[in-house]
Order: sequence, then C-alpha cells, then structure tokens
Amino acid sequence: MQTRVVRVDPFEPSDDLLRPCAEALRSGGLVAFPTETVYGLGANALMPSAVREVFRAKGRPQDNPIIVHVSRIEAVAPLVTEISPVASKLMETFWPGPLTLLFPKSGLVPAEVTAGLPTVAVRMPDHPVAQRLIDLSGVPVAAPSANISGRPSPTTFEATLSDLDGKVDYVVDGGPAGIGVESTVLDISGPVARVLRPGGLSVEELSQVLGEVQVAIEVPAGPLSSPGMKYRHYAPKADVYLAAGEPAAQREAIAVHALKSLISGKKVAVLASLENEPHYSRLSWSFPGSLFVLELGSREDLAPVAARLFSSLRYADRLGADVVLSESFPERGLGLAIQNRLDRASGGRKMPAAGDSAVSVLLVCSGNTCRSPMAEAILGTEWAGLESRIPLRVYSRGTAAAPGLPVSHEAVETMAERGINISKHASAPVTGADLEGADLVVTMTVSQKKALADRFPEFAPRVRTLAEVAEGAVDGDIPDPIGMGRGAYGRTADALERGLSVLARRMAGLLRTAGA
Ligand code: TXA
Ligand code: MG
Repeated sequence: MQTRVVRVDPFEPSDDLLRPCAEALRSGGLVAFPTETVYGLGANALMPSAVREVFRAKGRPQDNPIIVHVSRIEAVAPLVTEISPVASKLMETFWPGPLTLLFPKSGLVPAEVTAGLPTVAVRMPDHPVAQRLIDLSGVPVAAPSANISGRPSPTTFEATLSDLDGKVDYVVDGGPAGIGVESTVLDISGPVARVLRPGGLSVEELSQVLGEVQVAIEVPAGPLSSPGMKYRHYAPKADVYLAAGEPAAQREAIAVHALKSLISGKKVAVLASLENEPHYSRLSWSFPGSLFVLELGSREDLAPVAARLFSSLRYADRLGADVVLSESFPERGLGLAIQNRLDRASGGRKMPAAGDSAVSVLLVCSGNTCRSPMAEAILGTEWAGLESRIPLRVYSRGTAAAPGLPVSHEAVETMAERGINISKHASAPVTGADLEGADLVVTMTVSQKKALADRFPEFAPRVRTLAEVAEGAVDGDIPDPIGMGRGAYGRTADALERGLSVLARRMAGLLRTAGA
C-alpha cells in the first residue's frame, strides 16, 4: 500500500489538508496522526474491519484492546451505558488531555475495539491536529500508539513513518508529540480509582480531584487490569538494563557495566540524567564509536525526560547499540510513567550494584604452564596495587593445555623473585564456558587469538592480544620462554608486567573517571 504523507501546521492545521485523511478514516482507512502524548494509529472505531486492520498493521496481539478517541465530550455518551458523576468530573477537569477513562461499553462499540471486554477506554486528546482530524471524520477514532507492536511508541513523525510506511493510508506530520509518554489509563468502576497504566497525567494530579488513588500496574493481568500491560513493550532491539538506587550508586553501576560491555566488544548506549552525564562522557572519549551517551534531562524536571525517552530508545537502535544502560528516575509525577516504561523496556533486567559485579579477564596462552599463569598473577597484583573499589576476577587457560600440569620451574622461580607465588597453579584447557564468563580475553600471541576465534566464533569480539590492549607497551607476540633459560623467563615477565600494568591502569582509570 502507498502511504501518503500530509504535513500540517501543528497549532493551526488546515482543514483542507486534513479532509482527505478524515475521509479515509471515516470510510475504513488507517491514518497515523500526532497527539499530545505519542503518535496514534487511527481507524473508524465503529467499523470492525477497519479496527482489525489496525491489529494487522501493528502486529498487535488480539487480546489487547484499543483506546477510542473523541474530539468532544458529547461524543462519549453513545459509546457507553453510563457516565458516573466521577467520570463527568474527571472529563471536565482533565479533558482534553492525557487521561483515558474506562466506561461500561454500549452496543455501538464493536468487540474488536475492546478485545471482548465489557468496558471501553475513551480519551480526548489535547492536540489541535488530533482534534480537527477526529472532528472532520465525524466518527470516534480507535487509536493505539503508532508503533509496530513491542517497539517504543513513536513521538515524532519520522519514527511513525519508519514503523508504518506502506502499512497505512496516511501519516499526518504535525511535529513532535509534546509529552512523550502515553495517557494515564484509569479505572473508576470501583469505590477507589485505579491507575492501570501510569502516563502523562500524574497520580498526584488525579489525587487532587479524587482523593485516594490506587496504582495497580503490577499485573498478572486480572479481569480489571489493562491487558496491554502484560506484554514486553517499549523495547529497542538492544538489551536494556536498569540501574537502581541513589544517583551516585547508579553512576557506579553503569560505569562498571559499560566497561564490561565495552571491553567485550559491544556497542553501548547510556541513557543518562543531566546530573550524571559528564561522568559517562569522559568514559565515552575512550571508546569513540562504541559508547554513546544520550542525555534525557534533569532528575529535578522530568517533563523533558519523558519527552526524550522513547526517541532515545529508538536512537539507540539507529546507533547499533547492543546494550542500553539506563538510569532510573524518581517515581513522582511523570517519573512513575517514565520508570514504568523503562521497567518494561528492560523486561525487568537490573544492573547489579558496582561492588557486586567484578570485571573479569581471562588470560590465554598455549600450555597454561608458563606465560598465562605468570600473566594471571601479574595482573592480579597490579590490580590490587591500584586499590579500585571494583573487584577484578582474573584466571588463565591454555588453547592446547593438558589438564592438571604444574607451572614450569623457571616460571615459579621468576615470579618468586618478584614476590609472587604461582606454584599452586595447575594447567587447564580453555572451554566455551571460560570465554563466556570473561568480559575480556587476552592472548599472548596473534595465533592464539585466531585459534580462539575459530573454535569459539560467538566470543571472538571479546578476544584481544596483549599487544592490542597494551597501547604500545609491548611489541607483537609474547614469545614462549620454554626451554630458553631463565633469562628468557625474566624478559617474558618484564613484557607481561609492562603490558598488563597498562591494561590495569586503563581499566581502573576509566572506572574512576566514571565515578566508580
Ligand atoms: O496516549 C495514549 O493513550 C496513546 C495515544 C495514541 O492516544 N494511545 C495508546 O494506545 O497508548 P495503546 O493501544 O498503545 O495503549 C492502550 C492501553 C493498553 O495498555 C490497553 O490494554 C489499555 O490501554 N486499554 C484499552 N482498552 C482497555 C479496556 N477496556 N480495559 C483496560 N485497559 C484497556
Ligand atoms: Mg502502545
């Protein structure tokens, strides 16, 4: 299908431009349009076939009902069997605006809209384009957010078109949506009003009118809960992890997690508060092209955070991020909706606190009897000397190691001269699990790196030679000293020390500049 784009003035949209879209809506077509929350994908709510097309275009699960949008309060009456005094009060106070109310539905509303529920969700958007379009169409408009199901809701025309091009009749460009998170869905059927989805209208604002308000967003979907809340939602392609706790603790957790992901060869996007952003920026200078810091706004003023949230999640995709690390925001005002969307985007994945997650480095040579056990001991000692708060886990393996062999005499003696005892080490061959458990894998030679990449291609991005991580402190391969006499062992230990102290200082320094 050819999707037509119509550009209108967001504040004073021309009826002439909107009329063809309104006509398409009325006669069963699909039209995406801006609202004050997010862009919506509209269909004639009274036409079951049009509503079915909405589910198809979005790939939306059939059991997730759709909000009906009206442009005037009088349009509610035919859709419902009862308008309670509380409902009237809420409509008068908050409409047009980001509040969706549940009503007992009338026979006029097709089951397709409500997914078979006895209630219908209705809202009146506070956006001139949405209002004019609905008005001109002359019908109530069923409109979910205009994203492909599961993706972050679109807050711009561009995001809407990128999800729906070729799937709908019209996309109306009316500039960016203002609020950035969807409407608050409120159930007022019981004695106490219940927020089923926190959104653009805060619980605090509702409480001023209603007194007590329950927040019932922790679903397993019961009969009264909002069916849409059970699906993974708002998610970019990357894995999203959420930090928790005080701002400083979040910063530390993100610093550690970012470093672990970066050294394992991943691209990372950090969603940062204005307050913490400078710390991550310093980290990003060290990983140009791999670490992107997207600032959402201040913890003290959450409106810009809400407005940027979904576009930032989408931007992370465009940057090719493998991992998104996000701060959490205070759960007051708009923060409740922001946090809810982040929870859902992350699928509940939390970052461990900084001190609870070690950075882990696997050192690999061939036999695991000389070079890599020496390297293991040296890196551990270097790290201890740096007094980082973040633990480092170091272990060593061999690409062609026999299991259980002791370290060579010369290696033991060479290290003993440096005050380090490695006589207890027993050799072990490298396994996939060893690689999986390591953030960074450092080989002594290029051919060991190649051997690992061939055998374990899925972990290849995290494997480096020591020369690669030592920033010029060692030159090429670390040669095998076996059979070459004590002098050769001493030179190997020196080279390992030079290279690994650079690596250790770099990692500890990066953690420290990021505040951990
Ligand atoms: O701000 C918004 O509400 C945007 C704009 C376009 O208006 N729309 C939107 O629609 O977010 P959608 O479909 O993405 O989310 C609608 C939410 C879902 O969680 C759905 O389960 C819930 O409203 N909902 C709809 N009808 C319901 C009903 N009868 N009972 C309970 N929940 C309902
Ligand atoms: Mg949605």
